[in-house]
Amino acid sequence: MKATFKIFRYDPDKDKKPYYKEYTLDVEPNTVLLDVLNDIKWHYDGTLTFRRSCAHAICGSCGMTINGKNRLACQTLIKDLDTSKPIKIEPLKSYPVIKDLVVDMNKFYEKMFKVKPYLVNDNPPPGREFLQTPEEQKLIDEAYSCIWCGCCTSSCPSFWADDDYLGPAALLKAYRFIFDTRDTLTEERLRIVNDADGVWRCHVIFNCVEACPKEINITEYISRLKLKVVTSKL
Ligand code: F3S
Ligand code: FES
Repeated sequence: MKATFKIFRYDPDKDKKPYYKEYTLDVEPNTVLLDVLNDIKWHYDGTLTFRRSCAHAICGSCGMTINGKNRLACQTLIKDLDTSKPIKIEPLKSYPVIKDLVVDMNKFYEKMFKVKPYLVNDNPPPGREFLQTPEEQKLIDEAYSCIWCGCCTSSCPSFWADDDYLGPAALLKAYRFIFDTRDTLTEERLRIVNDADGVWRCHVIFNCVEACPKEINITEYISRLKLKVVTSKL
């Protein structure tokens, strides 16, 4: 079948302003969008720039806005898109564009590192693994599937209004360690999220849940964080 892809293009070294370029090609309904972008780049227009690596929804590099929704290109089947009109592909909103579909994620990573995205446990090692019960593991089971694609934070209106807001991805990461029974930095982590730019900037808008390619209920985890903050003696 034929489909048209209307792709955001912008090379700050050459272009005065962004524009859209259309490519019409034969595609199979079961093809993923990333393969179409590769086809365009390798056979029609080598100047098209986008990030990708794993092609299996693991590395988080191919986040982009597809027909208005943040998604992973490598996880989006053509048959799930409306091909009766051009499929619009844009860079993730609210991050500065470096070129075409590639955005500058530095501010996003700064937030992720602000919440210390690693396990801290200063107790003497137990001589075997730090064990958890199945119930303790269940608390963080879903939250640790985050692949740092940035789709959620880019979709959050609170982040559009204030890019100092930690955003859903960083708050989810904070949750993942605050509720990890093996971690001992709980109080410091709670202080980090209990900030004017922390959990209280979340207005329960739910865009992050819709955008998450791993279908994580981020809003629920942020709400649990809020409860933990108010019930802790900080
Ligand atoms: Fe933003 Fe998600 Fe909260 S979209 S306002 S972080 S529920
Ligand atoms: Fe790795 Fe899409 S290319 S998540």
